[in-house]
Amino acid sequence: MTSDPTRELIPPAYRTKVVEPIARTTIAQRERLLHDAGHNVFHVPASSVAVDLLTDSGTGAMSAAQWGSMFTADESYAGAASFDRFRGTVSEITGFAHVLPTHQGRAAEKLLMRALVQTGDVVPGNGHFDTTRAHIEALGASALDLPCAANARSSTAAPFKGNINVNALADVLSSDARVPLVLITITSNRAGGQPVSLDNLHETAALCREANVPLFLDAARFAENAALAQRSDVELNDSSPAHIARAYFDLAAGCTMSAKKDGHGNIGGFLALRDAALAKAITPSLILDEGFITYGGLAGRDLDAIAIGLREALEPDYLRERLHQVDALWQMLHALNIPLVAPAGGHAVFIDAGRWLAHIPWNEYPGQSLVAALYRTGGVRACELGSLMFGLLPDGTERRAEHEFVRLAIPRRVYGHEHMCYVAETFARVAEMRQSLRGFRVTSMNEPLRHFMAKLAPL
Ligand code: F0G
Repeated sequence: MTSDPTRELIPPAYRTKVVEPIARTTIAQRERLLHDAGHNVFHVPASSVAVDLLTDSGTGAMSAAQWGSMFTADESYAGAASFDRFRGTVSEITGFAHVLPTHQGRAAEKLLMRALVQTGDVVPGNGHFDTTRAHIEALGASALDLPCAANARSSTAAPFKGNINVNALADVLSSDARVPLVLITITSNRAGGQPVSLDNLHETAALCREANVPLFLDAARFAENAALAQRSDVELNDSSPAHIARAYFDLAAGCTMSAKKDGHGNIGGFLALRDAALAKAITPSLILDEGFITYGGLAGRDLDAIAIGLREALEPDYLRERLHQVDALWQMLHALNIPLVAPAGGHAVFIDAGRWLAHIPWNEYPGQSLVAALYRTGGVRACELGSLMFGLLPDGTERRAEHEFVRLAIPRRVYGHEHMCYVAETFARVAEMRQSLRGFRVTSMNEPLRHFMAKLAPL
């Protein structure tokens, strides 16, 4: 191996202090478990999963500092010191003075949307997350996704595929539509964890200012967005992730946050706001729905863990390793000629199962077929994001989803390179039997959000 002798060597960012055994199961056992689960991996016991890539939400490993802080946390109902530390960290990172703790991200979305959105309104964004969309729609408003053009070309790499289409946004803001807020999700989960550029946020903020509409951020993966931007935006190469993240928040009126992602918490979230009057208006709902203003549905120990986790999420060495790991898995699957969303995102690798399993029609769920095959073959748990998840209309009919994707979401600080190699090895086995994979039909629980509960049978 040759390396530049003048450059400092960079050691790995972590060593392991606590281990959790992974149980070994056989193909025969996993076939039985899949059968019992109605071929839906949401119903497979986690204890029988070898590498769990179902989600990166709340599944990360906490640091020794986080666990340690949980012992000294303050569990007082009101005025807990843990809340002061939580608020202090959030305000320092975001610059927002008003911090409302919530039990997870979707609760923050609900509080914000209920305060700002009315029937008939339109809420534009770069790609609303499912729960955000559901909260907006529950209020009789429409959630309008305006992804940039590069986003539609899933297999073509571009640095900022999470961007909003600013021309389309300008059209909406100058139309008759009533727009109570614009919400930009960093990174765009829908688009495979693709980042939004600082320039795009500046343009969005300028349009919002002109139209007198507040700009909010869904900041679930704000640190990963900053790290991806630092890598691809030459003007940001020398900035720190914390500095870049602050530049995002400086453009916004507030943010919703799922602290289960870049808060490195197993649970938690918050709504952070610049405006005191809006925070005051939301406070009664916070108390009723979540809990008193100094805990909001969380234990004091959760608040402390998140206060530390948010800072750790911005550490350059951690972020470098995080992006490297996602990219390494992407490269291994790419080398197997598996069609992928390009480039690798901040938290996940997306497989285009519609293309890879082109012999399975969309209404037989090629993504689900791949998910089942990955579990059967190697105990790897992934998540379908295709016509099973998005294809059911309220009237019970089906429509084809835009893509038949499968998401491999990588939990933070949990798995090492050997796990990624194992996942790639599982894919290599699945590749050999690809043509023999069959589709599925839904046999029961064919209802809204069916991907969680549906039972399926192989065709
Ligand atoms: N916003 C984004 C971008 C998300 O990805 C999620 C959750 C939420 C908001 C909601 O946060 O779960 O704390 O209520 N995403 C998870 C996932 C569930 O698997 O992508 P929450």
